[in-house]
Amino acid sequence: MKNKVAVIGGGNVGASAALFIAERALANVTLIDIVDGMPQGKSLDMQQAAPLWHKAPTLEGSTDLAAVRGSDVVVMTAGFPRKPGMSRSDLLKANADIIRPAAQAVKKHAPNATVVVVTNPLDVMAHLFWKISAFAKNRVIGMAGILDSARMRAFLAMELGVSGSDVHAMVLGGHGDSMVPLPRFTTVSGIAITELLAKDRIDAISQRTREGGAEIVKLLKTGSAYYAPAMSAVEMVEAILTDQKRLVPCSVLLEGEYGLKNLFIGVPIVLGGQGVEKIIELKLTPDELAALQKSGKDVSDMIAELSVAV
Ligand code: NAI
Ligand code: 2OP
Repeated sequence: MKNKVAVIGGGNVGASAALFIAERALANVTLIDIVDGMPQGKSLDMQQAAPLWHKAPTLEGSTDLAAVRGSDVVVMTAGFPRKPGMSRSDLLKANADIIRPAAQAVKKHAPNATVVVVTNPLDVMAHLFWKISAFAKNRVIGMAGILDSARMRAFLAMELGVSGSDVHAMVLGGHGDSMVPLPRFTTVSGIAITELLAKDRIDAISQRTREGGAEIVKLLKTGSAYYAPAMSAVEMVEAILTDQKRLVPCSVLLEGEYGLKNLFIGVPIVLGGQGVEKIIELKLTPDELAALQKSGKDVSDMIAELSVAV
């Protein structure tokens, strides 16, 4: 297999992403974590599954960030979830301390990689990774919009009793309470969602989407979602490795688009072999634009807290 993907963080999201990448034979995978034996053990376990998939990716585990060497894509999942008693700024600082050395290692050992950032708080961590790596802005991309949209798609599919693959949804903004589901751009096989569902049901599903991560945390009690997040990151890895030119919402650096600048936030992009190949500027209604700008303000406040503003 000619492509290499390094997944930093071998926890729930990272290990699931490694499994999906290997099972789809998208690339050879290197899984990196600080817990000695864990990334090695999980990789060996997956390597032993490979003969059963009739596919031949190689998997290796490491505790050394230099193992990102030569990667085409790096998926950054290392980081803490928010724990009880931890303030938002504690989490910001703790995960920033994990992002910094990882971004330096990727800059040094994988200078041609495209980076998919998953670590929360997503938009600010993607921003920080981009800043430390000094990569071109098209090569550092945050994963959240595909997940948030997939959640909305799943809820709509459940409500309507149709296949989720026929539902298309667009959720923009920061990956937090102020994310912006856009029912106006949500369709089922081309049919506007407003033709199929009453406004109160659409509003309820939009709100459930905003709270989609919290709903899983409440059920799991000891952690946050990982299958859908991992699959969403792998959609991005596949789009990059196979130059698919997918039109999907991702967190990217804005420089004036939507009236926002110097921050990463979720907007529709074309994602392909060059990473962010285009930012799509939708004509939003005044209410939609105000909601996106409010979400941008929430992200900027966090950036200010970390003092990473460009
Ligand atoms: P987890 O706790 O299962 O895994 C995190 C892993 O990072 C652990 O194995 C830990 O040992 C490792 N780690 C910690 N410091 C490290 C370092 N310096 N170098 C390498 N590895 C290190 O957590 P999970 O569920 O995998 O989530 C990971 C991150 O992704 C969290 O910040 C979470 O909030 C975020 N997340 C973001 C989503 C999004 O939509 N952007 C969705 C789901 C999770
Ligand atoms: C999620 O949305 C925790 O960001 C994570 O599930």
